[in-house]
Amino acid sequence: MKALVLAGGSGTRLRPITHTAAKQLVPIANRPILFWALDSIAEAGIREVGMIVGHTKDEVRAAVGDGSAFGLSVTYLEQPQPLGLAHAVSVARDWLGDDDFCMYLGDNVLLGGVAPFVERFGRPGRSEDALVLLAKVDDPTRFGVAEFDTEGRLVRLVEKPSVPPSDLALVGVYFFSPAVHDAISQIRPSARGELEITDAIDALITSGRIVDALAVDGFWKDLGDPEALLAGNRFMLLGIEGSVEGTVVDSSVDGPVVVEPGAVVERTVVRGPATIGRGARIVDAYVGPFSAIGPDCELRATEIQNSIVLAGARIDGVGPLDGCIIGRSAVVERRGHLPRATSVVVGDHSRLELA
Ligand code: DAU
Repeated sequence: MKALVLAGGSGTRLRPITHTAAKQLVPIANRPILFWALDSIAEAGIREVGMIVGHTKDEVRAAVGDGSAFGLSVTYLEQPQPLGLAHAVSVARDWLGDDDFCMYLGDNVLLGGVAPFVERFGRPGRSEDALVLLAKVDDPTRFGVAEFDTEGRLVRLVEKPSVPPSDLALVGVYFFSPAVHDAISQIRPSARGELEITDAIDALITSGRIVDALAVDGFWKDLGDPEALLAGNRFMLLGIEGSVEGTVVDSSVDGPVVVEPGAVVERTVVRGPATIGRGARIVDAYVGPFSAIGPDCELRATEIQNSIVLAGARIDGVGPLDGCIIGRSAVVERRGHLPRATSVVVGDHSRLELA
């Protein structure tokens, strides 16, 4: 089985962070979202990965390389425009050949991995042409949604319905036989102008092919918006094991805390789960649970928790901060002169909630 990982698209819901970075490379627990996906693909025993890339291709390539760091062999497949998930599959048509494949959306995290599903879909003598994973969600209008008949058979899938037939959303991990290519050739762009994979799976069902559906019980999130990103960060931090490789001086460190090599923590209270990246400098601060402080950040006289701070950001004399996502090399500092006003230079599509 091959894996097709989707790392194209535009990432509009994560602006302004995605003005300067691919959304799949935004870190949770100090690792790009995409890396967690690649780990679970490798753990499931898949080796060949086709990576769909768009306008952020150079960045994705620089981060993932040839895939050998993950035990994978990665081939980059360029999608000229983000014309939909089914369009991405058609871009990969030649590379996929006649193999079964797992399609993994690069902004999804699925705790517990994909190994059990790879095993189920890869079993000899299987009769299904697709396996979809479903999870209960609060707002099904934002997802692909499944409809079942009274006997519990999957009868229809519909993308972002205004009147959802159930609260079971399609998780962004799918398994297909080559029959999906034929189904894709039958569908047309949706109202939002995309070739929807949901419509292709629906076409498989309509043409009498068997589509298997399984509910996932572990944590799953589409990390497409800031709240989901913070939730993903919390969840991944729950799984970390503490290790202090940097320098900790006159500080108190409780709970699972990672202090990466080259980081300095001085006169600071750190309560885990939390992670402090390589080369970061944290002085006279409080770093509370569910904080991921990126490499080369500088925090002084600051209180922060439940937040993601990207590489090279500087925070000085502010807090308490909670539920923040602070972009690369951003500066948040207390104004040292009069008038005592708030002064900001805020990027396009930013969001500020002032205490
Ligand atoms: O996360 C699960 C949901 O993902 C499903 O419930 C929906 O049925 C499915 O359509 C999809 O919905 P989204 O609106 O969240 O998809 P999004 O546009 O965010 O794209 C998902 C990933 O695929 C993201 O990493 C970007 C990438 N992508 C997207 C498009 C449209 C591409 O690489 N190429 C594309 O053309």
